[in-house]
This record gives sequence, structure tokens and C-alpha cells, in this order.
Amino acid sequence: VSDVAPRAHWDEIYETRAAEDVSWYQRDPEVSLALVTAHSRPESAIVDVGAGQSRLVDRLLELGYHDVTLLDVSRVALDEVARRTGHVGPVTLIESDVRDWRPTRTYDVWHDRAALHFLDRPEGYVEVATAAVIEGGVAIIGVFAPDGPTHCSGLAVTRYDAAGLADLFEASFDLVSDRREEHVTPSGATQPFTWVVLRRRGN
Ligand SMILES: C[S@@+](CC[C@H](N)C(=O)[O-])C[C@H]1O[C@@H](n2cnc3c(N)ncnc32)[C@H](O)[C@@H]1O
Repeated sequence: VSDVAPRAHWDEIYETRAAEDVSWYQRDPEVSLALVTAHSRPESAIVDVGAGQSRLVDRLLELGYHDVTLLDVSRVALDEVARRTGHVGPVTLIESDVRDWRPTRTYDVWHDRAALHFLDRPEGYVEVATAAVIEGGVAIIGVFAPDGPTHCSGLAVTRYDAAGLADLFEASFDLVSDRREEHVTPSGATQPFTWVVLRRRGN
């Protein structure tokens, strides 16, 4: 199910639900911000994959980051972020299914919170990440943990532990660190996440 027409599915969600009501909403994307800033500087090139309407970009701009790219399959989500951040600083927006994206430059940091787990065939995703992340750069990925939800917004997800994520990326990335997060949704449910930091090896 999850590989079918993701664009229409996500556009409809963002058209019909308030940003603060979706289960993945965070007023303060604490773990993302801590991991991204620990592995980068304001000069670094950052890409947030499946960025949705996350406030990570707002926080990064406040810290002086000036090379931030947001990629999402939903134009509706990106339009809203453009409206929100327009007065703060320049952000590059890319409307694409991540699996179809052919990056034309490299990034120091690839960040993905809760997009990868929707893909039942994640191999294409790994190829794109390998092309996009500069050697020595990092991929920071957060997905539902093995004891996390089986579905999100009506779509089935694949749940991962840190070893599972490390295996998926093992051809070109080494596991640097991992952590668990208990995300509390706006309705008060707890969703365990697995986070990993992976470093892109040289060829
Ligand atoms: C659960 S939301 C998480 C949004 C954001 N990362 C956050 O933490 O608030 C998943 C996001 O991934 C996007 N997405 C889903 N499948 C995608 C795909 N194949 N390519 C690009 N974006 C995708 C959706 O549009 C949505 O914005």
C-alpha cells in the first residue's frame, strides 16, 4: 500500500489536517536538532528528506544555517513551509519522491524523520542517499522502533532497530551512534523511535 501514489495521499493529509494535529507533530524537534547540530556547522549543507512541515528548518535558520534543502513528495507541505520561513531566510525546496530524486550536488547531512519507514522497498532510497551525502558526511535517520506503531496516517510502515538500519545502509555507510526516542503525539500516545547516525564511507 505504502508505495502507491504517495503524492496524492500526502497532499490530501496536508490539505485536510492542521499542522499541529498530525501524529508526528513536534513543536520542538529536539532530537533532530541535537543530532544535526552535533554533526554539522552553520556552513554545512543540510537536506531534510520527507521534511513535511517540520520546524527543524526554522530552528536551523535561527542558528545561522544558510544551506538548507527540504525535499518532500507533497507540494502542499512545502508551500506551507515556504510561507512560514519566507521572512527568515532562504531555503531550497524540492518536490519529489525521494526514490526518483537525482541529486545534482552533495550534502554534509541527510536528515529523515519518519519518511523512510513508509517505503516497502527502501533500496532505491539508499542509492539516492549514497549519491547525495558527501564522503565523511552523515545520514541521520529516525524511524518507528520494533515496538512502535505498525501504521501511520493509514499506511503500513517497516519498523527498524539500529542494527536493521545499519544493515540497510552497510554498502556505503558505517553506524556511528544510535538512540531511542519516545515521541508523544498531540493526542498523548507514545511512539518509540529508533534514531541512527551513519557516516558515509569513502569509495
Ligand atoms: C510522518 S511525516 C514526517 C514529516 C517530518 N519529517 C516531521 O518529522 O515532521 C512523513 C513525510 O514524508 C513524506 N514522504 C512520504 N513518502 C515520501 C517519498 N516517497 N518521498 C518523499 N517524501 C515522502 C510525506 O509527504 C510526509 O511529509
